[in-house]
Amino acid sequence: MIAARLIVERDFVISELDRRVFGTFVEHLGRCVYTGIFEPGHPSADARGFRGDVMALVRELGPTVVRYPGGNFLSGYNWEDGVGPVDERPVRLDLAWFSTETNRFGTNEFIDWCKAAGVEPMLGVNLGTRGPDEARRFLEYCNHPGGTALSELRKRHGYPAPHDVKLWCLGNEMDGPWQISGKTAEEYGRAARETAKVMRWVDPRIQLAACGSSNHEMPTYAAWEDRVLDHCYDDVDLLSLHMYFENPKRSTAEMFGNIEVMDLFIQEIVAVADSVAARRRSTKRMMLSFDEWNVWYKARSTADLRQPGWPERPRLLEEVYNFEDALVVGGALIVLMNHADRVKVACLAQLVNVIGAIMTEPGGPAWRQTIFHPFAHASRFARGRVLRPLVESPSYAAQTFPEIPYLCASAVDDSTTGTTAVFALNRHLSDEMELRVELRGLGAERRIDHALTLAHPDLKAINHRDAPDTVVPRANPHVTVDGETLLIRLPPASWNVIVTSAAKR
Ligand code: AHR
Repeated sequence: MIAARLIVERDFVISELDRRVFGTFVEHLGRCVYTGIFEPGHPSADARGFRGDVMALVRELGPTVVRYPGGNFLSGYNWEDGVGPVDERPVRLDLAWFSTETNRFGTNEFIDWCKAAGVEPMLGVNLGTRGPDEARRFLEYCNHPGGTALSELRKRHGYPAPHDVKLWCLGNEMDGPWQISGKTAEEYGRAARETAKVMRWVDPRIQLAACGSSNHEMPTYAAWEDRVLDHCYDDVDLLSLHMYFENPKRSTAEMFGNIEVMDLFIQEIVAVADSVAARRRSTKRMMLSFDEWNVWYKARSTADLRQPGWPERPRLLEEVYNFEDALVVGGALIVLMNHADRVKVACLAQLVNVIGAIMTEPGGPAWRQTIFHPFAHASRFARGRVLRPLVESPSYAAQTFPEIPYLCASAVDDSTTGTTAVFALNRHLSDEMELRVELRGLGAERRIDHALTLAHPDLKAINHRDAPDTVVPRANPHVTVDGETLLIRLPPASWNVIVTSAAKR
């Protein structure tokens, strides 16, 4: 048994949590849209073709924001192809995923789906093959109330009220050589600025996210952000970060280092953004949109990325998540919460089938992947102010990161209800952890509302269609309360949530 301590103090607040950090992502890629969220003819589908079984799981998962339509797909997308009478929509080659795109699902269907799911849409404008003109026209189509050709077109398409989309991505991963019509930092920075300018003229209420580096290991990492922000610092609200966790050594202990690298990544991008601010003598602080993150390394072969013959809805990126992956996803959620002062939007990539939290079979069932559970916990229970965590824990050394504390934790306090949620990952693979949580100034006479743990003897255990509940959270009976202190026994290699309220504050 190892021992660790988490201390939080009522007044030591990182920031109010922006619940848009519990976003996800739907791309026109593989089976995310088609036979994922949308499958006319499926036994559970409604009149619009939205799968009811997937919708029920999405509501349980609890995303707040969904990013759409890509991803790499965005950089070759014509938004006009996806609106208007379905039978008149063009069928196109998608050069991002070498697939055939039928456009039977487009922006208006997505907005309808978001309303049904109770989530906020985050749309992207194509800054690969297109530019500011199409972006401002797309925004006018979506958000302008009426009286112009494009807003009237939307009305003729059956949408009299504007969609009022607030969150917009200015392109996707524009530094990537894989991107359709990628750009240098100078080219992209200028395009982002000019696009942001005209989009704001159309609708000043929007929030805009500029592309940061495609990942932490890009050769132009950090320099890209510096150059891009030099051009568009005053014109955008958010800078994007993307990260996919890998496991090249097939070692869980090494893989946990990804969580620390994600933390470092955020710190580094904050430093770069703040240095741009310093050069400009700007008091504005750039906020971050971590709008693609997940584990992704198993379904990454050439056959997982593209299939010959320009197929429709091929099985691409269908990563099957194991228990170990769920732990890493839990750690990433803790990192995002603990950076609540700068990370205001984040999207687990993606929602269904394609590196998805949910899996489906065409015409068949839908089920929860292992990573579904920590996300659903965080989205359900993390509300209010993120408290600054003081963590005391033994640690270990790894190649992915030099010092990894066994305990990774965050605490979020909702002062309106007197409820505090503690999220804790025990990264020790063989030892239980005796965790002492001191909730200082948050009220005594505490009641335990929920004590949940995700643990499994087999780190490689998966959920699949015939055994969808192999990895599921269970109640943790080993929690005691002593005044303001909680004592919890965490199983080895486990994700844990303790939700507690104070009778008196
Ligand atoms: O999420 C899968 C792909 O990963 C996205 O299309 C792209 O933005 C990233 O490289």
